[in-house]
Amino acid sequence: MLDSLGNLEKTHSCGELRESDVGKRVVLMGWVAKKRDFGIFTFIDLRDREGVTQIVVSEETAAKAHAKAKNLRGEFVIAVLGEVVSRAEGTHNQKLSTGDIEIKASELLILNEAKTTPFQLEVAGSENLASEDTRLKYRYLDLRRPQLQHNIRMRAKAVAKIREFMDARGFTEIETPILLKSTPEGARDFVVPSRIHAGKFFALPQSPQILKQITMIAGFDKYYQIARCFRDEDLRADRQPEFTQLDVEMSFANQEMVYRVIEGFFQHVFKLIDVELPENFPRMTYVEAMRRYGSDKPDLRFEMELADLSGELKDTDFAPFASILESGGEIKCVVARGKADYSRKQLDELQEFVKRYGANALAWVKLGEAETTSSLLKVLGQEKIEALARAANAAEGDAVLIVAGKKSVVAASLGALRVEIARRENLIDKNAYRPLLVTEFPMFELNDETGNYDAAHHPFTSPMDEDLEMFKRAIENEADHHLLGAVRAKAYDAVINGYECAGGSIRIHQKEIQALNFKALGLSPEKARERFGFFLDALEYGTPPHGGFAAGIERTCMILCGTENIRDVMAFPKTASAQDLMMDSPGAVDNSQLKELGIKIVE
Ligand code: AMO
Repeated sequence: MLDSLGNLEKTHSCGELRESDVGKRVVLMGWVAKKRDFGIFTFIDLRDREGVTQIVVSEETAAKAHAKAKNLRGEFVIAVLGEVVSRAEGTHNQKLSTGDIEIKASELLILNEAKTTPFQLEVAGSENLASEDTRLKYRYLDLRRPQLQHNIRMRAKAVAKIREFMDARGFTEIETPILLKSTPEGARDFVVPSRIHAGKFFALPQSPQILKQITMIAGFDKYYQIARCFRDEDLRADRQPEFTQLDVEMSFANQEMVYRVIEGFFQHVFKLIDVELPENFPRMTYVEAMRRYGSDKPDLRFEMELADLSGELKDTDFAPFASILESGGEIKCVVARGKADYSRKQLDELQEFVKRYGANALAWVKLGEAETTSSLLKVLGQEKIEALARAANAAEGDAVLIVAGKKSVVAASLGALRVEIARRENLIDKNAYRPLLVTEFPMFELNDETGNYDAAHHPFTSPMDEDLEMFKRAIENEADHHLLGAVRAKAYDAVINGYECAGGSIRIHQKEIQALNFKALGLSPEKARERFGFFLDALEYGTPPHGGFAAGIERTCMILCGTENIRDVMAFPKTASAQDLMMDSPGAVDNSQLKELGIKIVE
């Protein structure tokens, strides 16, 4: 028989009682984290979201409660009435904030029972956790863990801080619809069938991009929203199909004005973890970031820049290198300091690692104490190897790791290798926070599959003034089409510790340029009208110059919480294969529902 809560109210949380509370009569409620029976005494660790308090139930002074305590098991929900007492000498627990006291129970109510949990909630160290799939299936249990409680609450605090910051700066929070029309951000849309308009579909917003621009046309001047976004794309450790952005737009804005808001907002939010970010974030153009770090989101907590060996090898008669250089490729390297002792096995592992990024092989030079060895010794000779090591700025004891290939492959593989080595060799200062603004992103990306140019950011991004003529020429003259690849955009990202935490741009605000851009992206005027006619129309009614950005709330919270798993900062995340294991979604729908929607499933 369970006890009833009745009118009983808790007086304190399980994390707040201290020595100074000794003597108080209190009521605590929570879950049984642990129970230990010692004959006439039973000890209970009572847990709620604020912490754990030790309860002592004595057979002598509280016989009824003691009898009940015998029946308790993990995760039972109980209420305890009792007195705060000092712990006996030598039994203080420094690990608990309440470790100086305990509650001498006079009464105990069992408010609910719990089945044996499918995994142990309290384990030491994250490596001992149950499998993530099991924990996701029973998310409500996993969420009881203090770490996740902390993360989810940190997220709530971050969002509150964001609102505080944006409101203080005169931004208006505006909600935009979830049932929308396609808003291209480079991923596939999630679509929702319409019952009333059978055969037609809404698309869930990949971001509120077009609508926030329309709020500028509507004269709101400064918009923000904590916006839900939906993108059907390949998932990674820092990506979810459904995520949240701080979405911002400003009228009459240039890049500098947007940068100030980005910097200010991150500074404000990072105060939550007592981190002072610099007033002005360092800046780097996209081209420079790619050249030095092989990445448009370099982690600046460690150095290890890429060095270019192409010049040193330009006259090489080693055929694979020569042909790569001839076809416009590159040969670059990173130096692993003090790693001349990398074993064959370790080098093989690193080679397998870069192959995942498309590299054919990983060549190496090891500057050992006694001799310099290299996988290229036979083909290049000792002298050239020494010259390469010098060009790479490597010293005795270092290993030089070399990739040759297409520029994009060299950047991707060495950019990733740089981070991999830093992780393996513990080169990353976990207490460092290194923000960066990456600017002047390319306007277009050549799509190898279709041969078309895609928008590198999104189709509403403005080309840089300096590149406007080239942009127009590339669209107007077929022969100059390839120049699209060289057009730079007024687009930028904010990167912190190697995470792309925000991205944005100054937008196109003139209809003609927007129409040209759709043309550059291969959209016929008819198609452009069909998809974005409403927006092209809106642009004609006095659109102010405008721009903005969106920051990933999850990515930001990952850094605030010190986790590399995006699911750790989301209450109900999806798995890497885009499923909700707790609700078992996506799931089938009834035939009647399908019929109503005019949908037939084709096997
Ligand atoms: P972008 O696509 O760069 O820009 O997104 C902005 C920020 O949102 C976060 N983000 C994600 N977080 C988790 N899972 C995902 N799948 C995911 N995709 C993106 C990142 C990213 O920097 N409309 C533009 C913004 C603008 O131009 O103003 C946009 O959405 O932190």
